[in-house]
Amino acid sequence: MLKTQITASQLYEKLKNIKLGASVCQYSLKKCEELVPIINEINELKEEKNAVILAHSYISPEIIYGVSDFVGDSYKLSKDALTTTASTIVFVAVRFMGETAKILNPEKEVLVPATLDGCSLADSINAETVRDLRRQYPDHTFICYINTTAQVKAECDVTVTSANVYKVAKAIPNDKIYFLPDKFMGQNLKNYMEREGIKKDIKFYSGTCYVHEDYGMDDILKVRLEYPDAKIVSHPECNSAIVDNSDFVGSTEQMLGYMKETASKQFLMLTECGLSARLQSEFPDKQLVGSCTMCKFMKSNTLGNILRALKNPLPKDRVILDEPTRLRALKTIEAMFRYA
Ligand code: 13P
Ligand code: SF4
Repeated sequence: MLKTQITASQLYEKLKNIKLGASVCQYSLKKCEELVPIINEINELKEEKNAVILAHSYISPEIIYGVSDFVGDSYKLSKDALTTTASTIVFVAVRFMGETAKILNPEKEVLVPATLDGCSLADSINAETVRDLRRQYPDHTFICYINTTAQVKAECDVTVTSANVYKVAKAIPNDKIYFLPDKFMGQNLKNYMEREGIKKDIKFYSGTCYVHEDYGMDDILKVRLEYPDAKIVSHPECNSAIVDNSDFVGSTEQMLGYMKETASKQFLMLTECGLSARLQSEFPDKQLVGSCTMCKFMKSNTLGNILRALKNPLPKDRVILDEPTRLRALKTIEAMFRYA
C-alpha cells in the first residue's frame, strides 16, 4: 500500500464519533468504504504535484480527516501558508482565505475549490466604500478583519483575525480606530477596550456573518436551564449579549484549545457546525449541547471539487491578484504579524 493511502477502517476511526443532527455529518463504515477511493486518489495526486491541502475547521470532516495536511483557524492557516515549501496550495475554505495565502506566496499556485464564491462578511464591503470612509475619518487607523477581499485589505492599515483582534487593536499606537466589516466584532472590541480601561475611539462598519448572527441569548438560556454546568463558548462574530454571557470567547482554534484544557464535560459551542464535528472526533469524552449552524460557503467544498481542482483547475479555482493590490494588502498582513 502506498504511504498516502488510508483504509476505510482508519477513516471510520476518525469519523465514528461525529453525530451532528444532519445525516451529511454522520458516518458508517460503509460510507467510509465509499469515500476512501476518492480520498486516496487526491492523496496520490497531492504527492505527484507537490501540493498541500489547508482546510479550515468548518470544512466537512471527510476532507479534514481524509486529505488535509493543515487544519485550523484563519490565523493558524495563514502562518501554515507562509511556511509550506509545496509549490501548490489547495485552500479548502472560502476565497478570502485563499487570497491571504496568495498574498503571502505570490510564486505559488493557490487553488480554492469551493463552488460558492463568497462569505457574508467579505461580501459586505468593497474598496470604494473603504476609500470613502477614509475620507470621512482621516485620523483613524483602519483595521480590517481577515474576512475581507484583497482589494479591501489594500485600502486598510492592519489586518486582524478573530485570534488576535483585541491584542492588535490594543497595540496600535493610535487612539482612533475604524474596524471593518463586522459590526458585532467591532462592538465586542469596543466593549473589551472599555472593560480594560483603554480609552480609544472605536468606530465600526455594519457587516455581519449570517451564520453567527443567527445565534441569540435564547440559545444560551435554553442550555443553561437543561445543562447548568455546561460551559458557553462563543466566537467574536456573535453579538455582544452572547459574548458577554460566555465563559470563553475566541477564534475557532482558541475555542478548541479552551475545550481541551477545561475539565468540564459539557459545552455549548456558538459557531459553525464544522468545529463541533471536529471536537466530537477529537474529544469523544466531552459532550456538545445545543445546536449549530452551517456555512453554505465553507460547505460548498467537496472531495469531488478538490479532485477536479488538483487534476484540471478551472479558471475560477485559481487565485490571481494584481501585484500592486497584493503588495498593499501584504503590508496589512505583515503589520498583523508584527503586532500579534
Ligand atoms: P476563525 O479565524 O476563528 O477560524 O474564523 C473564521 C470565520 O470565518 C469565522 O466565521
Ligand atoms: Fe464568512 Fe460567516 Fe462563513 Fe465565516 S461562517 S466564512 S464569516 S459566512
